Amino acid sequence: MSHRRKAVLLTGCLLTLLAFVAAFAYAQQPAAAPKQASSLYSAEIIPLTPAECGRCHSSIYYQLRNEGGKHQLECTKCHAKFHAYNPIKQNWKEIMPKCQSCHGLFHGDKVTACGECHSEPHAPKKQIAASGELAKMCNDCHGKVGQELQQNLSKHTKVQCASCHHDRHGYIPSCMECHKPHTPNQTVKDCLACHPVHSPLKIAYPKTTGNDVCGGCHSAVYDKLTKSASKHSQVSCAACHTKHRYIPTCAECHGKPHGEVVLKKFPDCLACHVDVHDLPTKTSRK
Ligand code: HEC
Ligand code: HEC
Ligand code: HEC
Ligand code: HEC
Ligand code: HEC
Ligand code: HEC
Ligand code: HEC
Ligand code: HEC
Ligand code: HEC
Ligand code: HEC
Ligand code: HEC
Ligand code: HEC
Repeated sequence: MSHRRKAVLLTGCLLTLLAFVAAFAYAQQPAAAPKQASSLYSAEIIPLTPAECGRCHSSIYYQLRNEGGKHQLECTKCHAKFHAYNPIKQNWKEIMPKCQSCHGLFHGDKVTACGECHSEPHAPKKQIAASGELAKMCNDCHGKVGQELQQNLSKHTKVQCASCHHDRHGYIPSCMECHKPHTPNQTVKDCLACHPVHSPLKIAYPKTTGNDVCGGCHSAVYDKLTKSASKHSQVSCAACHTKHRYIPTCAECHGKPHGEVVLKKFPDCLACHVDVHDLPTKTSRK
C-alpha cells in the first residue's frame, strides 16, 4: 500500500510541476492561438470500448473473451466507477461492482457471499471455486444425482460429492485418481461403460467387451476357454453372460438340439457336454 501511496504522492508533485510549467508557457504565448489547436481538439470524445480498456488490462479482456460468457458486456456497464481507487481511503470494495445490483439474491436470501463461489467476475460460470459453501449445496441443484447414489447403495454413496468433484465446480475426476484398473490399458471410458459412477455396482458392460477384461478377475475360466478346442472359444464371455453374474441357459442359443426322449432323460445338458467353457469335441476326444 505504501508503494501506491508513494506513487500517488509522486504523481501529485509531477502534476503541480506541470501546472507551473504550463502556466509559464502560457504567459510566454503570443495572443493568437496557433492554428493546429482547432484540429487537435476537433474530435468528439468517445467512451473506451472493451478492447481499448484491454490495451492496458489485456489479461482481463482475454479472460472475458474466452470465458466471460454472458458477462461480455461493456466494461463500464459494471465499472460505473473506475480508476478511482484511493489507497488512503481504502475504497476498493466501495468502487467495485456489486453482483446483487444486477442479479439480486439470485440463489435466495441464504446465499449472499457471491464471490466465495463465483471467484472470478470476468468468468462467472467457468470459474466457480470449490468452496465449503458449494459443497453443502450440490443436492439443491443436482437432486437427481444424490437420489441415484442413495437408491443404488455402494461405497460411492459415502464418498462426498466434493471429494470427487474437487478443484472447481464442474470438475470431472479420473477414476485412476483413486483406483487401479483391472487390466492394463483400461481407460476411464472403459470404466464408465461398466460402472455408472453414481451407481458403480449396477455393472452393465457392452457386448463388445473383450474376454481379457473378464480374465483380469476370472483368470481360471479365461485360460480354460482360450485354450479350448471347442467352438465356444469363439464365443465371447459377454455374449453368454449378458449381465454380470448372469448364467445363460443353453436353450437361449441352441433351442432343442436333441430329441425329446434324450432331453427328458437328461435335463442337464452338461451331464454329457461336461464343461461349457471347455466342451469335449470330436477332435479333442481322440
Ligand atoms: C459483469 C460485470 C463486470 C464486467 C463486464 C467487467 N468487470 Fe471488471 N470487475 C468486476 C467485479 C465485480 C470486480 C471486483 C473483483 C474484486 O472484488 O476484486 C472487477 C474487477 C476488475 C479489476 C480489478 C481487479 C483485477 O482483477 O485486476 C479490473 C482492473 C477490471 N475489473 C477491469 C475490467 C475491464 C477492463 C473490463 C472490460 C474489458 C471489465 N473489468 C469488465 C465486474 C465486471
Ligand atoms: C492507459 C492504460 C489504461 C487504460 C486504457 C485503462 N486502464 Fe484501468 N487501470 C490502469 C492502471 C495502470 C490501473 C492501476 C493498476 C492496476 O490495478 O492494474 C488501472 C486500474 C483499474 C481498475 C482497478 C482500480 C480502480 O481504481 O478502479 C479498474 C476497475 C479499471 N482499471 C478499469 C478500467 C476500465 C473499465 C477501462 C476502460 C474503460 C480501463 N480501466 C482503461 C490502466 C488503464
Ligand atoms: C451490471 C450488471 C451486472 C453485474 C454487476 C453482474 N452481472 Fe452477472 N450478468 C449480467 C447480465 C446482463 C447477464 C446475462 C443475463 C442473461 O442473459 O440472462 C449476467 C450473467 C451472469 C451469469 C451467467 C453467465 C453465463 O454465461 O451464462 C452469472 C453466473 C453471473 N452473471 C454472475 C455474476 C456475479 C457472481 C456477479 C458479481 C461478481 C455479477 N454477475 C455481476 C449483469 C451483471
Ligand atoms: C455456494 C456457491 C455459490 C454462491 C455463494 C453463489 N453462487 Fe451463483 N451459482 C453457483 C453455481 C454452482 C451456479 C451454476 C453454474 C452453472 O450453471 O454452470 C451458479 C449460477 C449463477 C448464475 C447463472 C445462472 C444461469 O443463468 O446459468 C447467476 C446469475 C448467479 N449464480 C448469481 C449469483 C449471485 C448474484 C450470487 C450472490 C448473491 C451467487 N450467485 C452466489 C454457485 C454459487
Ligand atoms: C446453484 C446450482 C448449482 C449448485 C449449488 C451446484 N451445481 Fe453443479 N451444475 C449446475 C448447473 C446449472 C450445471 C449445468 C451446466 C451446464 O450444463 O452447462 C452444473 C453442472 C455440473 C457438473 C457437470 C459439468 C459437465 O461438464 O457436465 C458437475 C460435475 C457438477 N455440476 C457438480 C456439482 C457438484 C459436485 C456440486 C457441489 C459441490 C455442484 N455441482 C453444485 C448447478 C449447480
Ligand atoms: C466417486 C466419485 C464421484 C462421486 C462421489 C460423485 N461423483 Fe459426480 N461424477 C463423477 C464422475 C467421474 C462423473 C463423470 C461421469 C460420466 O462422464 O459419465 C460425474 C458426473 C457428474 C455430473 C454430470 C453428469 C450427470 O450425471 O449429471 C454431475 C451433475 C455430478 N457428477 C454431480 C455429483 C453430485 C451432486 C454428487 C454427490 C451427491 C456426485 N456427483 C458424487 C464422480 C463422482
Ligand atoms: C475421489 C476418489 C474416487 C474416485 C475419483 C473414484 N472412486 Fe470409486 N471408490 C472410492 C472409494 C473411497 C471407494 C470405497 C473403496 C473401499 O472401501 O475399498 C470406491 C469404491 C468403488 C467401487 C466398489 C463399490 C462397492 O460398493 O463395492 C467401484 C466399482 C468403483 N469405486 C468404481 C469407480 C469408478 C468406475 C470410478 C471412475 C468413474 C471411480 N470409482 C472413481 C473412491 C473413488
Ligand atoms: C467389463 C466391465 C468392467 C470394466 C471395464 C471395469 N470394471 Fe471394475 N468391476 C467390474 C466387475 C464385474 C467388478 C466386480 C463386482 C462384484 O464384486 O460383483 C468390478 C469391481 C470393481 C471395483 C471394486 C473393487 C474390486 O477391485 O473388486 C472397483 C474399485 C472397480 N471395479 C473399478 C474399476 C475401474 C477404475 C475401472 C476402469 C479402469 C473398471 N473398474 C473397469 C467390471 C468392470
Ligand atoms: C473386478 C473383477 C471382476 C471383473 C472384471 C469381472 N468379474 Fe465376474 N465376478 C467377480 C466377482 C468378485 C464375482 C463373485 C464371485 C463369487 O461370488 O464367488 C463374480 C461373479 C461372476 C459370475 C457368477 C459366478 C457364479 O458363481 O455364479 C459370472 C458368470 C461372472 N462373474 C462373469 C464375468 C464376466 C463375463 C466378466 C467380463 C464381462 C466379468 N465377470 C468381469 C469379479 C469380476
Ligand atoms: C457359450 C457360453 C459361455 C461363454 C462363452 C462363457 N461362459 Fe461362463 N458360463 C456359462 C454357463 C452356461 C455357465 C454355468 C455353468 C454351470 O452351470 O456349471 C458359466 C459359468 C461361469 C462362471 C461360474 C462358474 C465357474 O466356472 O467359475 C464364471 C465365473 C464364468 N462363467 C465366467 C466366464 C468368463 C470369464 C468367460 C469368458 C472368458 C465365460 N464365462 C465364457 C456360459 C458361458
Ligand atoms: C450365447 C449363445 C450360446 C450359449 C448360451 C450356448 N452356446 Fe453352445 N454354441 C454357441 C455357438 C455360437 C456355437 C458354435 C456353433 C457353430 O459354429 O456351428 C456353439 C457350439 C456348441 C456345441 C458344439 C461344439 C463344437 O465345438 O462343435 C455344443 C456341444 C454346445 N454349443 C453346447 C452348449 C451347451 C451345452 C450350452 C449350455 C451349457 C451352450 N452350448 C450354450 C453359442 C452358445
Ligand atoms: C445324453 C448326452 C447328451 C445330452 C444330455 C445332451 N447332448 Fe448335446 N450332444 C451329445 C452328443 C453325443 C453330441 C454329438 C457330439 C459331437 O458331434 O461332437 C451332441 C451335440 C450337441 C450339439 C452340436 C450339434 C452340432 O450340430 O454340432 C449341440 C449344440 C448340443 N449337443 C447341445 C446340447 C444341449 C443344449 C443340450 C441340453 C438341452 C444337450 N446338448 C444335451 C450328447 C448330449
